[in-house]
Amino acid sequence: MCGIVGYVGNNQALDVVMEGLRRLEYRGYDSAGVALLADGQVVTRKRAGKLANLEKELADNPTPPATAGMGHTRWATHGAPNDRNAHPHVSHVGSVAVVHNGIIENFAALRSELEANGIEMSSDTDTEVVAHMVEAEFDAVDPAIEGRLAEAVRRVCNRLEGAFTLVLTHAAAPHTVVGARRNSPLVAGIGEDEYFLASDVSAFISRTRRAIELGQDQVVELDRERGITVSDFSGGPAETQEYTIDWDASAAEKGGYDWFMLKEIAEQPAVVADTLRGRLTETGEIHLDEMRLSDDDLRDVGKIFIIACGTSYYAGMVAKYAIEHWTRIPVEVELASEFRYRDPVLDRSTLVIAISQSGETMDTLMALRHAKSQHARILAICNTIGSTIPRESDAVLYTRAGVEIAVASTKAFLTQIVACYLVALYLGQIRGTKWGDEVSAVVGQLQEMPAAVDKVLDTMEPVRELARTLAEADQILFLGRHVGFPVALEGALKLKELAYMHAEGFAAGELKHGPIALIGEGTPVVIVVPSPLGRDSLHGKVVSNIQEVRARGARTIVIAEEGDDKVVPYADHVIRVPRTPVLMAPLVTTVPLQVMACEIAAARGLDVDQPRNLAKSVTVE
Ligand code: F6R
Repeated sequence: MCGIVGYVGNNQALDVVMEGLRRLEYRGYDSAGVALLADGQVVTRKRAGKLANLEKELADNPTPPATAGMGHTRWATHGAPNDRNAHPHVSHVGSVAVVHNGIIENFAALRSELEANGIEMSSDTDTEVVAHMVEAEFDAVDPAIEGRLAEAVRRVCNRLEGAFTLVLTHAAAPHTVVGARRNSPLVAGIGEDEYFLASDVSAFISRTRRAIELGQDQVVELDRERGITVSDFSGGPAETQEYTIDWDASAAEKGGYDWFMLKEIAEQPAVVADTLRGRLTETGEIHLDEMRLSDDDLRDVGKIFIIACGTSYYAGMVAKYAIEHWTRIPVEVELASEFRYRDPVLDRSTLVIAISQSGETMDTLMALRHAKSQHARILAICNTIGSTIPRESDAVLYTRAGVEIAVASTKAFLTQIVACYLVALYLGQIRGTKWGDEVSAVVGQLQEMPAAVDKVLDTMEPVRELARTLAEADQILFLGRHVGFPVALEGALKLKELAYMHAEGFAAGELKHGPIALIGEGTPVVIVVPSPLGRDSLHGKVVSNIQEVRARGARTIVIAEEGDDKVVPYADHVIRVPRTPVLMAPLVTTVPLQVMACEIAAARGLDVDQPRNLAKSVTVE
């Protein structure tokens, strides 16, 4: 949520900053702006709307050469998304420029204080107060001290409440850019005589692979002569960890696809395979090498909570079926934004699994901290190395989905399911539950999934054609049972966020308790059908549900296994997926729903990668 870039070096700062913003635009696209330190002055350009508007403004109104600067792409929280509220914000004297991600919760009090001192605000944002405060503090710091701007920023940070990443410049410190973070992401990059700050490494991946993880409540100073200095908010030296970015710059390019989302859907067989790699042995042993919890800790687990948001929450819902079935440990799946507000019962024997692609989702982070304060053990399933959620967890299992740029999550979802299954298998293995013999069979099933997902992708052309016929529908309903239920919810979420179409997912058995009233003549209903070889009479029940909706006029779109002929008489359209064991089915049945949502959105002329009102990493509660 909001993308931030800072740069100091020998190259033209504007080029570096704009390249970074292009790569970070997925984090927010309500407005964009830059500030450059040129000829002892802070020069800004900013525009409401997407980055293209800023590019046009820069073409119409060029900036002077500069080798230090910053940029911002905004997801609005305080203040409408217009030019006035676009970042960077500049102090009343014009010396300080600031960009911000997060929410400064005590901004109203700070604003009143500044206004009482005669400072007039020129925006409606919570951010602007910081520019004025840093201006005043900079003047109060002894000019002789090294790192004067960093000291001013530290003093201000100590007065801020809430979550923030800040990047600042001062006209009197022309070769310096300072960043600060609390609860929002910020990484630093080290190049050849040039230094970077960004919300994530994709902003500078084409320029350097050396990155530094910044911790909570730290201030980082980039100075052309003195390099990078990191301190805590009281000015003491802070410990940092340098790491090498191991993904390719091409991961942040579309690679010939019309949309990042299509590319990411196509990457799913590879990322599922990557997430499994090295973690399963042929003899059925499971290795979770990033686990920092001891086997004894895990043997003692009496209850599991899964906390997550959005798509990650649906991955957690899928995982519940597998974990309970394989380990017999009770699992509750809870929306992270609700979790801590209902005072859940947690203790040392509770394992909380926090699932997050970005590792920065504030709702999940706050739920995790609540669980930690109640002495629960925390395991993060996360896609972003070094992000806050894994850093604050007792153990981490990284999904290896690679960078996900499209705002709507696709490949992360599949890898989250796989990672949860690995955790379930591991728990089953160390606890020696009676299904232990089944472990090696499940390991074999997981290893077959990359090929199965690949096969689904090969058969998507009819799904695209079908999707185009749905582009004008008023609503689409999604039904599923068992693991098909969270898949139905995920299908509906993808459609809502990409196509702005009313879509709901239901447990197919619930339909008759109310939602069936939504069905009228021609209402498209997508039904995720379980395997006919599955347990109990689930398949038969869902086939009955198809008949029920069809009898009320629904246009039935059925996702069914190859060879499942029982659905044919009641299906207006059948989308085939390969035969898989029941718990593996979400890895194949989700894929046509992703493709369908993408195609419907494109047919409606919408921006598939950057849907309105959304941001990739939701760093506010
Ligand atoms: C939907 C989507 C969101 C995220 C949610 C959690 O396509 O991407 O619903 O799944 O905001 O984000 P993470 O997984 O980063 O915590």
